[in-house]
Amino acid sequence: MAATRTRASTDHRLGFEDLDQEVTLDSVPVQGTVPDWLTGTLVRTTPAQWESPHHTFPHWFDGLAMLNKFAFGGGSVSYANRFLNTRARRAAQEGGEMPYVDFASDPCRSLFGRVMALWKGDYTDNCNVNVTRLGREWIAMTETPLPMAFDADTLDTLGVAYKPPGDHVTAHPHHDRERGELVAYATRFGPRSTYRIYAQRDRETQRVIAKKSVRRPAYMHSFPITERYALLTEQPLVSNPVEFLLRGEPFIDNFRWKPEQGTRFQVWDRHSGDFTGTFETEPFFCFHHANAFERQGEVVVDLCAFEDASIIHELDMDHLRAGGELAPPLLRRFRIDTATGRVAAEGPLVPEPLELPRIDYGRRNGRPYRYVYGTTTTGTDAARVTWPDGIVKADTERGESSVWQSAGCWPGEPVFVADPSTEQEDAGVVLSVVLDSDRGHSFLLVLDARTLDERARAEVPHHIPFGFHGMYSRAG
Ligand SMILES: [Fe+2]
Repeated sequence: MAATRTRASTDHRLGFEDLDQEVTLDSVPVQGTVPDWLTGTLVRTTPAQWESPHHTFPHWFDGLAMLNKFAFGGGSVSYANRFLNTRARRAAQEGGEMPYVDFASDPCRSLFGRVMALWKGDYTDNCNVNVTRLGREWIAMTETPLPMAFDADTLDTLGVAYKPPGDHVTAHPHHDRERGELVAYATRFGPRSTYRIYAQRDRETQRVIAKKSVRRPAYMHSFPITERYALLTEQPLVSNPVEFLLRGEPFIDNFRWKPEQGTRFQVWDRHSGDFTGTFETEPFFCFHHANAFERQGEVVVDLCAFEDASIIHELDMDHLRAGGELAPPLLRRFRIDTATGRVAAEGPLVPEPLELPRIDYGRRNGRPYRYVYGTTTTGTDAARVTWPDGIVKADTERGESSVWQSAGCWPGEPVFVADPSTEQEDAGVVLSVVLDSDRGHSFLLVLDARTLDERARAEVPHHIPFGFHGMYSRAG
């Protein structure tokens, strides 16, 4: 494999500095060769501004949202970036009280103001977590029920697309291509809180597939589906929604780590809506699931697990800008026997830390699969990591792995794009926005997904702050 195992020695913290510049470039310099078949568009969202004239956002997850777009065709690459035009950004730019509830930032307003914001449903519309497509539309998402439509040609913000059925929602919906729907979940907080699995066909058409009452709702960031099931990984980071309204803390600080209650997989038949059961296992904390599938009476769930929830405040900007250590996420497998109720918890599938997992989603999400791509941290002491400096490819069947790394380079989420001419699972490319801290700018990296050999770098004229997720679409 093509791993370059030299240890990066330069400073990644440029990735936490604000980006003010917005550009539209018909082509950017390309080193190497972009495959001819790569003719679609990669759109990503990222927090890009933590210091605005009137507000400071002290957590990575709360920076103001910016869209980045790379479009491919004829071997060339175009690039554009724009801030989402949101109420949150306008409030940050124009001053006055920030009237919205963020993930982890205390917006410095009165307790009364915060309680009233929650009662009024004044959620932030700062959609900096993920993008996807609802039918032909593009939407950006965060964990509030305000998914934001945008024009993928101009990156113009078009307004809220639809209203999910809850207060806290996942920014990781799944595509059910057979039904032509997005499948997602939402938590409704209140004296009687509920989890809701729902499907969204278009702006107007929504159906709740299943609903479950919950006394202490858990914080969850993503969920897996299989061909038959939808699962919620109810980890032991839980809230008391009645106190929640009275305490007036930033959203995530209303949740408490209760490892004694373990982790509960809540499982539904996602076609009938019937509840299959609750399946308990050991405590862990998870942002991201890699995949899940059914095999011989078991539901197999692969996810990126942390030992506990300390990672959340390790992602405070002060900690990140100080180069503070981060707990390592490990790709783990849980096998749920729905007949006996037993859950088998396996150790790491590969030794390297792995986060921001991506797979051959279009062909293998919810089905048996083999390969996961993610960010990783190399070096001799990965037990406590500083910041991901590599891309890892995990072979879940053989427990083997390979790593791409390049000195002074700090990659983001590796998005797998399948070569449309073959069904071979790892035939294609991996696209990642990489910060080159030596040169002070970012580039789009194109790797051969089979070997992790470099195919091309497309250079952007500025740094792109570290962000989360994006989507490649064959159509523009
Ligand atoms: Fe995420």
